[in-house]
Parts: sequence; structure tokens; C-alpha cells
Amino acid sequence: MTSTARLTLDPAFLIGPVEPRLFGSFVEHMGRCVYTGIFEPGHPLADADGFRTDVLELTRELGVTLVRYPGGNFVSNYRWEDGVGPVEERPARLDLAWRSLEDNSFGLNEFMAWAARAGIEPMMALNLGTRGVAEALELVEYANYPGGTRLSDLRRAHGVDKPHDIRLWCLGNELDGPWQMGHKTAREYGRLAAETARALRRLDPGVSLVACGSSNSGMPTFGQWEAEVLESAYDLVDYISLHAYYDPADGDVDSFLASGADMEHMIRSIAATADHVGAKLRSRRKIKLSFDEWNVWYQSRFGGEASLEWAEHPRLIENVYDVTDAVVVGSLLITLLRNADRVGVACQAQLANVIAPIMTEPGGPAWRQSIFHPFALTARNARGQVLRVEPECTSVSTDKYGEAPAIWATATLDDTGEITLFVVNRDRRGPCELRVALPQGLLPAEHLELADDDLSAVNSAADPDRVAPRPGTGLRMDGRDATLTLPPVSWTMIRFAPQE
Ligand code: AHR
Repeated sequence: MTSTARLTLDPAFLIGPVEPRLFGSFVEHMGRCVYTGIFEPGHPLADADGFRTDVLELTRELGVTLVRYPGGNFVSNYRWEDGVGPVEERPARLDLAWRSLEDNSFGLNEFMAWAARAGIEPMMALNLGTRGVAEALELVEYANYPGGTRLSDLRRAHGVDKPHDIRLWCLGNELDGPWQMGHKTAREYGRLAAETARALRRLDPGVSLVACGSSNSGMPTFGQWEAEVLESAYDLVDYISLHAYYDPADGDVDSFLASGADMEHMIRSIAATADHVGAKLRSRRKIKLSFDEWNVWYQSRFGGEASLEWAEHPRLIENVYDVTDAVVVGSLLITLLRNADRVGVACQAQLANVIAPIMTEPGGPAWRQSIFHPFALTARNARGQVLRVEPECTSVSTDKYGEAPAIWATATLDDTGEITLFVVNRDRRGPCELRVALPQGLLPAEHLELADDDLSAVNSAADPDRVAPRPGTGLRMDGRDATLTLPPVSWTMIRFAPQE
């Protein structure tokens, strides 16, 4: 059954600028994200610092602009001092988050050297689980103070003369979660976040700070946690974080395909919560949202931390993504852009091997998973301003979210007048005939599509390009309107360029 839909691209309806920080990623000391992911001394393609150059190239191709580090749950029991200084003197430690043995051969200065080579902005997380204000201050002094103090001089003694000048800091990670080392109540965390923020701003007034929001929207304190934390820290932080993982193996496929609509509901709920606190405080500031962990994750297949045996960089949650997963990732990126007036930072979790767009084999190749493609194309082509796009379309019934629109879309307008449309057909029942009303003088310049007769197709080391975007067909102009057929469960990108 073919459905129909229409949408209008109008340069007058602007949401806000495309913030480059929306195309962030995440490197955690977890499984093989760092070790044998981005860092593998001795690999045939490793550079002199042990960074895998094949992974660096893929990171640049992915278009990642920012990377959050070093966790995640890992950070809540991490001592940053263990990861700096001469490697042979660094202690081995137990990582309690993932029951892993951490040799600390990769730490802050290695990450910053890697970040420079990858051309990304660092986003650093502080341990506010087992540690507090003093240790946070020490890390920021080591990283950002030019010199002449014990910790800034220690950095210089470690071979890093100029300060790292890290602008973006997370005040802990998921501290509402009972699985977190140093888990806290909202009151306890709100006070700690406020006091840490106050002290850090005294040390470095130029930092931007992210307070922890809920670990996910299913937490019993979702909404209440954000309100209580912001009541303590509203004037001292810039962002509140959101985390969401969508599990294809948990529930019906139509709900999974509607994940982008759920993400939008979550964003708008937390924006409203933050604004409610702002109103009560008579504040004119707006707290922005940092969606600093999002992705598809087959979480129900993970036995949990307690099921893990102690090991050194084990294979953890190395999910293999199929076509449907890629379409959902494309729709989550559409949601982030649709809410670009409120979401200032976003990080897909994670970059390599651990629920990641980039896979590697130790000593072997690196390749792109299916989810790599919508991310890379969106990061490369979403430029300028986001346009408000509201398709008229049919809906799909879902078990979890009720009726969800079958067509999910956003568009951006750059300063040359080019408009790029990103659109997903979430309907499994059939294709959709889409009519796009365009401004005068625009013609299609590029049309790419991610779709497949086999929705369970995946990429692998042996067949790395099985799932990839292909040129779309059948796009035609009808006056100023473009019409095309969106295959069922598909992600499409079309660039419309001004006529020469
Ligand atoms: O990304 C994997 C884990 O998911 C992170 O460590 C944690 O913050 C989240 O629960």
C-alpha cells in the first residue's frame, strides 16, 4: 500500500542555527572503545603515539565535531592523575563500572593529542561520584591553567607546555542511577554540582558546564530530578544532560521506528522542566540541553555489570547494526536538528566498537557500520539554519507511543540558499509518495537513500559496504514541487540548490 505525504520548505520558518556541537560522539574507557579501538600501539596502521590512523580517518569522515571523554559510568570511580605522567609509572586499577582492568596507558594527555589529530573539540567529564570539588578543581587547574602552579607545572613537566583550554565540562555522569559509583539523591547532587560549578568558574570563568539530568526517561525520578538539580544550580550551569538509548529488541518494531518522536517528547519535556525552574527563580537565562548520550543499543541483550568477569578491555556491547537501526539513527539526528533551538550539544554513544559506528579488529581492519552513514551525511550536509518542517502524512500505531507520524523530517538552509532535506519513512507497510513544496528557483542537486529489501542486512569486516547509501531514483519536478517515492523503512537526503 502506497501512502501520500506533503511538506513545505520555506526559508521564512527558521528554528535556529545548526550548532556544530550537535555532531558529537563519545569515547569511554569501556570495552574496546579506547584500547584496540582508537588506540592500539603496535597495530600496523598505528602512528608513533599508538593512535590507529584508519580509525582517525573514519572519525574525520564521520564528521564528528566533539568527543565526550572518559565516561560514562567509568568516570564515577576514575582518578585522572592515574592517566598522566610517564606511562611506566602509571598504576593499574580496577574499573568498577565495567569490571575491567585499566592499565592507564591512555589518559588525558593522550586523549587531547588524539583529539587534535581528529580535529574535534573535547568535552571532559569530571568524577563527582567518588570524588568532589577539590579533585575537580585539581583537574581543571592541570588542564587549563597556563603555568606557575603545582598542577599546571606538572602538566608542563609531562610535556604539555600550553594549557589544553578545555571549554566544556560535565559535572559527573548519571548520578541518579543506583548502578553509578557514588549515586546520589537529587538534593545531594544538586548541591555538589552547584558548589563544583561555583569553584570551577572562579578558577576558569570561560568554562561551560553540564549538570547531570536523568539517566533515561524511564527513571522513577525523571523530571523531578532535573527540577531539583536546577533549583540548586540554575545560575551556575549552562546545560542539563539527557541520555536515551533505543532498544530494537525491546517491544514492537513500530515503536522502535518511532524512537525519534519519543526523543522529541523527551527534549520538550526537559526544556519545559528547566523553563519552569527558571520561571520560579525569575531568571532570564535559558538552560540548554546536552543530549550527551544517545543511540540504538540492544540493551536487553546485555546481562548487566554484575554478569561481567574481570578482564582487560573485553568485548562489551559490540552491537552489530542493521538497516532498520540505521534508519532509526537517521531519525534521531532529525530530531536533534528539529530541536536545534534548545539542544546545544549532542553525543552519539560511542565512537568505536562499543555500540559504535566504527568497528575494528585488534591488529586487523576498521569498517563502517550501517549507522555510520546517516550520521556522516547529516554532519556533512546540515549547515546554516534549521527550517521548521511539519509533514502532512499518515500515522503509524505503536505500542509504546500511540500514534506516531509516518514521515519524520527536517531541513537546513545554508548561506548559498541551498536547502537540504532529511526525511525518514517509518512505515513498514509500504512506500510513501512525498510531495515537497520548494521556494522559487531550487532544483535537486543530490539525492541519496538508505533502504534495503533486507532490513536485517549488516556490514562486517568481510563485507564492509553491504549497507551504504545509494543514489535515489524517480525524483521529478512538477512546477515548483518535487515529488519522489520513499521506500518503506528508509532514510533519504536531498540537496536542493539554487538554479545557476
Ligand atoms: O554508553 C554506555 C553507558 O551508558 C555509559 O557508561 C553510561 O553513562 C550509560 O548508562
